[in-house]
Amino acid sequence: MKEKLRVALLMGGPSAEHEVSLSSGEVIGNHLDKDKYEVIPVVVSKSGEWPFEIGELKEMADVAFIAMHGEYGEDGTVQEELRDAEIPYTGSDVLSSALAMNKILSGRLLASHGIDVPEFIVVQKHEKTPGSLGGLDFPVVVKPADRGSSVGITIARTMDELVPALRNAFGFSRDVMIQEFIPGREVTCAVLDDGAGEAFPLPPTEIIPRSGSMFDYNAKYTPGASEEITPARLHDDALSVIQETALIAHRAVGASGMSRTDMIIGDDDRLYVLEINTIPGMTPTSLLPQAARVHGLTLSELFDRIIEAGLRRHGLLLG
Ligand SMILES: Nc1ncnc2c1ncn2[C@@H]1O[C@H](COP(=O)(O)OP(=O)(O)O)[C@@H](O)[C@H]1O
Ligand SMILES: [Mg+2]
Repeated sequence: MKEKLRVALLMGGPSAEHEVSLSSGEVIGNHLDKDKYEVIPVVVSKSGEWPFEIGELKEMADVAFIAMHGEYGEDGTVQEELRDAEIPYTGSDVLSSALAMNKILSGRLLASHGIDVPEFIVVQKHEKTPGSLGGLDFPVVVKPADRGSSVGITIARTMDELVPALRNAFGFSRDVMIQEFIPGREVTCAVLDDGAGEAFPLPPTEIIPRSGSMFDYNAKYTPGASEEITPARLHDDALSVIQETALIAHRAVGASGMSRTDMIIGDDDRLYVLEINTIPGMTPTSLLPQAARVHGLTLSELFDRIIEAGLRRHGLLLG
């Protein structure tokens, strides 16, 4: 009998998305093909502690499936630790992960590729409040530069609302963006690749929040709190533009295995990219699994591909 590939499923971790990650990990663990893989669940604590030394993983597993989101798990930190311990892992490498997690740097990079991103200014913690809004008009979106799941994000409609919004965001990050608010329809589009540069987009999803205008943490993880329609109800031309944009974003940050790019179709008919996620949620209500299903992939097949892409990127799978 062929030996099974030993997959360490890394979840939890020291981010605001600890619980989300546990839920992603559960879905992945349940759907990894048990005929092919021996799954070793590894829960990193909320304070970042591993149940054992990370180097011990090399003896225990052939590949690490990173099912962590946000800081540490998605921002290049665990990727660097795994790289240094010579353990192959799924998804993007250290640099791409860090770049994608930082909305300031990735926003500038995407703009340089001709992609529309909402205009923004950057405020650092020591500045407290900006001297001017740099030409932006209210309402503005205030967001930490490097957090996910809408953590620390507020819409400020007046100068009075800006101060607490900044204080809130600085609770999560040293760098905060004040961004032009884009009224419009929210869409997201995932991209999969084979770890060797061959990438393709999944069908775009349209997100309709039920609880107001913002796709917030609750709307993201409460079943039924937002309505998601895949493929988005748009003309084929618009769907193609969304997919092409997601592909450009994926390639621009050098993502590998998977990504999901969040966008808004503005009322001005321009397509704005909000951010690119390199480890999108895999919970039962998450968007990438929904899109994969619509594309005709089972979750087992999706996770096979993500593992194979990781192995290929590390030169462990030829062809
Ligand atoms: N500039 C913006 N204009 C309008 N809505 C925004 C803007 N930025 C963020 N949002 C809303 O906040 C949500 C989260 O923002 P996003 O940039 O995707 O960060 P993250 O998902 O990492 O928290 C978006 O899905 C959208 O609903
Ligand atoms: Mg987002």
